[in-house]
Amino acid sequence: KKLIIINGPNLNLLGTREPDVYGSLTLVDFLETIKNKYTNIEIDHFQSNIEGELISKIQEVGFDFDGIILNAAAYTHTSVGIGDAVRAIATPVVEVHISNTFAREDFRHQSFIAPHTKGVIVGFGLQSYELAIQSFINDGL
Ligand code: DQA
Repeated sequence: KKLIIINGPNLNLLGTREPDVYGSLTLVDFLETIKNKYTNIEIDHFQSNIEGELISKIQEVGFDFDGIILNAAAYTHTSVGIGDAVRAIATPVVEVHISNTFAREDFRHQSFIAPHTKGVIVGFGLQSYELAIQSFINDGL
């Protein structure tokens, strides 16, 4: 059973970037915790600041993996291309956000990706990723 967490731009700065909004845990520490907790699932990770690299990764895993947990970060609100990639693949995608994007600026209220996903988990901090993993497990992963 294979899941992949795909993180978009600036999420490599987790832990140092606006800790009041995004928490103080680094991405590496967080992924370590998650992998140690769900040892019977293979959980890959990919992060890029580059839109096309995110699209290529979605295409690459999108007919092979059992699930994708996608935080496209700022591209969520701008990228028709990432939305189309999610629409084009067979693997189900759960969109996640660390912060409650609906409690923030209006431009963060729109997602070009959400219409093509199984669902969206928003605003639970890093726990959003774990809730997404749980949703795949509950659905029979
Ligand atoms: C984010 C929310 C986005 O609006 C923002 O651009 C991010 C992170 C989140 O996880 O809360 O970079 O996707």
